[in-house]
Amino acid sequence: MSEVSFRLALPEDLDQIAALEERCFPEEPWSRGMFEEELKNDLALFVVAEEQGTDGNGEHCPANDRIVGYIIAWVIAPAESQVGSIAVLPEYRRHGLGRQLMEILLAACRETGTRDTYLEVRVSNEPAIAMYKSLGFENDGIRKRYYQDGEDAYTMARHEAFADKESADSAPAPEEKK
Ligand SMILES: CC(C)(COP(=O)(O)OP(=O)(O)OC[C@H]1O[C@@H](n2cnc3c(N)ncnc32)[C@H](O)[C@@H]1OP(=O)(O)O)[C@@H](O)C(=O)NCCC(=O)NCCS
Repeated sequence: MSEVSFRLALPEDLDQIAALEERCFPEEPWSRGMFEEELKNDLALFVVAEEQGTDGNGEHCPANDRIVGYIIAWVIAPAESQVGSIAVLPEYRRHGLGRQLMEILLAACRETGTRDTYLEVRVSNEPAIAMYKSLGFENDGIRKRYYQDGEDAYTMARHEAFADKESADSAPAPEEKK
């Protein structure tokens, strides 16, 4: 894996994000239009993980940059934040990218004084549940038949987002694309 950086999503990312979404959530992907709406949503934190592309000589070639993950969350400061969606391409998983995307959200919560973060996750989604637990989320309830295919969701919550100050402090800040 080449160097990966984190930055706010841009309209020109939408094709890659929609393709990533189809691979990561084949059963119920968000549409391109849904992502487009989130780009316009002032409450949405929409961050991508982008791998630096290289040319044949190993030099950085922006045309080959690749979106390998994203997070969308709604930060309704100071009340609460809600994770909308997070995904990392299968071949880029277990390299800490999902955790770093979540830590960017937790850092934004800390900055805005938002102490409680919520999310829903399929009860069968062990990798995601393990990631959320490792970040201080706890099971908060169950939503029966939450997904279109009838699967239940756990609701998970992380209270007092400031509690894990260390992890929030170490989160990389998303950059504006130059
Ligand atoms: C969930 C997801 C975003 C995690 O991304 P990732 O980049 O692989 O996660 P990380 O490498 O940062 O892992 C962070 C921690 O999560 C846990 N984890 C992640 N994948 C795991 C797996 N397959 N099995 C067990 N634990 C796992 C581990 O605790 C891991 O820490 P460690 O590697 O130090 O042990 C990724 O699996 C994904 O895109 N899944 C499909 C989309 C999805 O389900 N999104 C969540 C919807 S609620």
